[in-house]
This record gives sequence, C-alpha cells and structure tokens, in this order.
Amino acid sequence: MLAIIGGAGAASLTGLSVQQRLIVRTPYGEPSGPLIIGELAGRSVLFLARHGYGHTILPHRINYRANIWALAEQGATRVVALASVGGIKPSLRPGVLVLPDQLIDYTWGRQQTFFDGGDQAITHVDFTEPYDGAIRSELLRAAAQTRVPLVDGGVYACVQGPRLETAAEIRKIRRDGADMVGMTAMPEAVLAREMNLAYTTLAISVNWAAGVAKSRMEVSQLDAAVVLERRMPDLLAILLAIE
Ligand code: HPA
Repeated sequence: MLAIIGGAGAASLTGLSVQQRLIVRTPYGEPSGPLIIGELAGRSVLFLARHGYGHTILPHRINYRANIWALAEQGATRVVALASVGGIKPSLRPGVLVLPDQLIDYTWGRQQTFFDGGDQAITHVDFTEPYDGAIRSELLRAAAQTRVPLVDGGVYACVQGPRLETAAEIRKIRRDGADMVGMTAMPEAVLAREMNLAYTTLAISVNWAAGVAKSRMEVSQLDAAVVLERRMPDLLAILLAIE
C-alpha cells in the first residue's frame, strides 16, 4: 500500500477521504499521531502527519522509528515523504518541487536504526542510493502526466534544527555538495530502508536557505505557508496520478 507522510503545512491532505484513524502502538513508543487509513483517488492509502496533526512536534523530537514501524505494520510498501526545504541551488527557488536523489546527514542524537543491540545481528544497511529508484521514477512519470514541473535530482542536506542555519553553515553545506536543506529526511529515509520500504522524498522549496539570494534572517512561517498553499494543488495532482 502507498503511504504518504505529510510534512510542515501538509498535516492533512485535501482529497483524502478518511476511513479510519488508527492508534498504533509500537515497540518504539508513540508515532506522531494516529495513522489515517483513507482513500485518495479511489485507492487505499495510509497517511501520517510527521509533526503531529496540530503541528507541535519539532523535527528533532519526532519519533521516526515509531512512525516508520507503524506504517510498515499497517501494510505500507511504498512511502512518499512530503518535505519542506530551503533552496541552496539557484534553480531551487521557493515554490519549486524537487525529487532529491541523494542526501547528507548532519543530524545528531536521533535514533537511527531498528537494529539496536540486544541479540540482533549487527546490520549495516546499504544506503548508497538513499531514495528508491522505482518510486522516484513513478513520481516523475506522474508529474509529467499531470504537467507539473518537478526537478529530478538534488542533494538534500538534513540538519538538526530546529533553528535555521547561519549563512556560513549554508556556504559549508553548499561546498559539501548539497542543493537543498531540511530537517526531517534523516533518520526517516534510513529507517524506511531498514524496513524494506520503497521510500522517496517529494520536496518543496519554501524559502531560500540562509544567505542565499534574498533570504532573510528567519523563514517567515507566513511566507512558507503561502508558498506551500500555492503549490499544494500541484503536489496533490502528482500524488493522485501515482499508479
Ligand atoms: N533550513 C532548514 N530546514 C528548512 C528550511 C531551511 O532553510 N526551510 C524549510 N526547512
């Protein structure tokens, strides 16, 4: 089953008819909220709001393990993770939709694995390609079909947050090879890989990263919300066209 993780500004999905709200208990504690089992364009999907339905859970406090475990347990096989990012590369100006193909992890202190000691064999999961090729291709196809411009590829830098970066940090991250910056791709992506879920991020640039182009000292929540709201119909169109 297709699962959608909603990010900032996407705690609910227009067009999703809710059939059931499911409180899932996991060995890792509580997910961000009840899982929604619903229907999107006539197909059953799972939906989970990453930051909670009231948008109260900060990126470093999200229980990524519980979220991914709950989705897997409820039958998810493919996961499209919606995410807001700051654009570093000039082409990723606010409003642009982008499908990253690589990531760099700058987070710390987050629970990164399900294989965490006890009597479990040590497992080093392959993460050369952090995003699943098949679901990426399907999203690109869906975007082409619906004529929604979607940038194919880019390096997502995952920072700890919750504060935004300094201009020097963004210069460093850019030198490292990153094109966009966000706070939630990790450990979400690697946990999905450990669970054998076909996972990809569908990102939307909601601001310029610090010191890039016209960026200001902080992301105005209002600006980000306006950008998100403006692009939501296109994001939805892509999701609806997924086969
Ligand atoms: N930095 C980090 N995370 C973000 C940003 C940003 O500029 N915009 C949206 N998520």
